[in-house]
Amino acid sequence: MMTDWNCQVRLMVESDLEQVLEWRNHPDISRYMYTQHKITFAEHANWYKRANNNPDHYVLIFELSGKPTGFVNINKLTHTSIADWGFYIAPNSEKGTGRKLGVTVLNYAFENLKLHKICGQALAYNIPSIKFHTNLGFTQEGVLRDQHFDGQSYNDVVHFGLLANEWKME
Ligand SMILES: CC(C)(COP(=O)(O)OP(=O)(O)OC[C@H]1O[C@@H](n2cnc3c(N)ncnc32)[C@H](O)[C@@H]1OP(=O)(O)O)[C@@H](O)C(=O)NCCC(=O)NCCS
Repeated sequence: MMTDWNCQVRLMVESDLEQVLEWRNHPDISRYMYTQHKITFAEHANWYKRANNNPDHYVLIFELSGKPTGFVNINKLTHTSIADWGFYIAPNSEKGTGRKLGVTVLNYAFENLKLHKICGQALAYNIPSIKFHTNLGFTQEGVLRDQHFDGQSYNDVVHFGLLANEWKME
């Protein structure tokens, strides 16, 4: 699918840390994450340092007209071209921003990183993410029952997968 010329993805750098933490701690985002406590700057900076030193881990910023508008995490399973991804867009973004991020990042992942497969997992109550994956052409590959405990209740986790040959680049 064609990437909008206004959209781009780049590596996250240290000067993005504060912005990304602000997004990550926003309730519209944290309620859909596996860990939902308020993350401190030190914890966040440590996570970034570890991720940045791992050659199988890509931490990326999605930009819309030059403005950082989303975060993406691509984590390759060791020695394979199969990766898990995770992402969020800036809270209160304009409708359609998620799809722009999705198309831009999938083009990058299949074209530049030469991945074979991208896997996504969504908590079963994360309807926007489930729709997002489905609309981008992901196949729902399974539902792991009661796979996540948030401190109060168990939730199912929905697994999605998309193969390179299912993603048509123009
Ligand atoms: C997931 C995410 C990137 C999707 O972005 P987006 O596609 O721009 O989001 P939208 O708000 O347009 O929602 C996507 C769809 O879900 C629908 N939706 C949103 N909230 C809904 C709700 N509570 N119930 C039913 N449908 C809902 C929207 O109407 C839209 O449907 P459409 O595609 O048919 O128009 C974005 O919502 C996000 O960053 N969420 C927080 C972090 C997150 O959950 N990350 C993924 C973890 S797996």
